[in-house]
Amino acid sequence: MKVTVFGSGYVGLVTGVCLAEVGNDVICVDVDQNKIDNLVKGVIPIYEPGLDAMVKENQAAGRLHFTTDAKQAVEHGTFQFIAVGTPPDEDGSADLKYVLTVAETIASYMDDYKVVINKSTVPVGTADKVKAIINQTLHARSSSTEFDVVSNPEFLKEGAAIDDFMKPDRIIVGTDNPRTTELLKALYAPFNRSHERIVSMDIRSAELTKYAANAMLATKISFMNELSNLAELLGADIEKVRNGIGSDSRIGYSFIYPGCGYGGSCFPKDVKALERTAKQVGYNAELLSAVENVNDRQKQVLINKIIKHYSGNIEGKTFALWGLAFKPKTDDMREAPSRVILEALIAAGAKVQAFDPEAMEEAARIYANTEGLMLVGSMDETLENADALVVVTEWKNFWSPDFDMLKTKLNDSVIFDGRNLYQPDVLHKKGITYYAIGRGQTSDSKEA
Ligand SMILES: NC(=O)c1ccc[n+]([C@@H]2O[C@H](COP(=O)([O-])OP(=O)(O)OC[C@H]3O[C@@H](n4cnc5c(N)ncnc54)[C@H](O)[C@@H]3O)[C@@H](O)[C@H]2O)c1
Repeated sequence: MKVTVFGSGYVGLVTGVCLAEVGNDVICVDVDQNKIDNLVKGVIPIYEPGLDAMVKENQAAGRLHFTTDAKQAVEHGTFQFIAVGTPPDEDGSADLKYVLTVAETIASYMDDYKVVINKSTVPVGTADKVKAIINQTLHARSSSTEFDVVSNPEFLKEGAAIDDFMKPDRIIVGTDNPRTTELLKALYAPFNRSHERIVSMDIRSAELTKYAANAMLATKISFMNELSNLAELLGADIEKVRNGIGSDSRIGYSFIYPGCGYGGSCFPKDVKALERTAKQVGYNAELLSAVENVNDRQKQVLINKIIKHYSGNIEGKTFALWGLAFKPKTDDMREAPSRVILEALIAAGAKVQAFDPEAMEEAARIYANTEGLMLVGSMDETLENADALVVVTEWKNFWSPDFDMLKTKLNDSVIFDGRNLYQPDVLHKKGITYYAIGRGQTSDSKEA
C-alpha cells in the first residue's frame, strides 16, 4: 500500500519505518530540511533502539523514502498520516497549528481519494477541524476529491517504540464510516495477526482515549509520589509499600515507581491539554490539576533534600549528575526532571558535571554555553572533584556503581538518588550518606 507520513520525529519516523518493514511503500515528509538531508544519508536524528538499522534496511530495499517535497508526498499515498508535534500553547491547550497546516497542505495537492489519519495527540474535535480545513481548501481549488479523516492515536513508548508499534497492545481506530474502518484494518493487518487488536470506535472517543491513557498513567505516578512524601514523614519505606500494593492484581506493578517526577513530551503536555479541554466545556477537572501540581512539586523534592543537607547553601559545591534524558533508552529531554534540577543547582551557585548515555548531544543543544554546567564523557568523569552525586534517570548503567570508589571520589560522600536505585542499608554500612525518595525510615531520618 502507498503511505505518506507527515512529520519525521519520534512518532512519524517509527510509523513510517514500521509500515515499510511490512512491505508498504512509504514516503516520510518533514519541513526540517536538515533532518531530511540526514535521513536520506541514513543518519537518524533521534536515539531509539533498533531504529537505525531498520531505517537503513528499508531505505536499501526501496520501500522507505524521505523528502521535504509535500506535493510529491501527497500525490504518493492513499494513506496520509499526520504525525507532527502538538506542543502546549501558552494556556496549556494543544497547539494545533502544525496539524492544521498539514491538513491544508494535503488538501492543496490531493487529486484522488485520501484517508487522512491523525496520529498526533489532539484534543477532541480536532478531526472536525481537519475536515473543515480540507473541505475549505478543496472548495477554493474547485475540487470535489473525496477524502476521509480517521483518528488513530499512537501509544508507543520512547525507548521501546519499534516493539510497541510492531506488537501493539491495541490499535485504536476512530472513524465515522465503515469504508475507512476496512481500509485501516487492511493497513494494520500485519500487526494484528495473533489476536484482534483493533478497537474501532467513533472519532471523538478515539481522540479522548489517548488523553485518558496518558492521564491515567500520569495519575499513577503522581499518586505514588504523593505517598512517597507521606511515607517519609511517617517513617515508612515507600519501596516496601510499592511491593505491597503492586502485588494486588487490581493495582499492578507498572507505573507505581516513586521518583523525582515524570517528564517527556507527552504526560506533562497531555495532562495540561486535557485539563484545558475540560475547562472549555465548563468542567473543572480537579484530579488532573492535582496530578500536574504534585508532579511539579515532585521535581523540587531532590533539590530540597540537597539544599537541606547543605544547610541552605550550595554555593561553590560541585555535583556529579547521572541522567539527563527524561527516562532511560531515549535521548529526549523534553520536560525532563534533570532540567529543573540542574538549573536550580546552577542558580544556587553550584557547578554541575553531567553525563547521560544517549542525551549528551541534546543537552549540548539545549544548554550551549551554560555557565556552571559541564557535559562530560562518562559516569567516572562526572566524579572528578565532585562533592556529591545526584542520580536523576534510571539508566541500567547507573544501577551498580562501585560504591567504594564513589566514597573516595565524592568529597562529601553523599548521594541524592531521585530513582531509588540503591539499597539504603548497603550505602549506610559503607559510610555514604544516602538520600532517596520516600524511604524515610531507612535513609533520611538516619542520615539527615
Ligand atoms: N514522542 C512520543 O513518545 C509520542 C507517543 C505517542 C504520541 N505522540 C504524539 O505524536 C505527535 C508527534 O510527536 P513526536 O514526539 O513525534 O514529535 P517530534 O517533535 O519528534 O516530531 C514532529 C516532527 O514534525 C515535523 N513537522 C512540523 N510541521 C510539519 C509539516 N507541516 N510537515 C511535515 N512535518 C512537519 C517537525 O519538523 C518534526 O520533525 C505529538 O502529538 C505527540 O503528542 C508522541
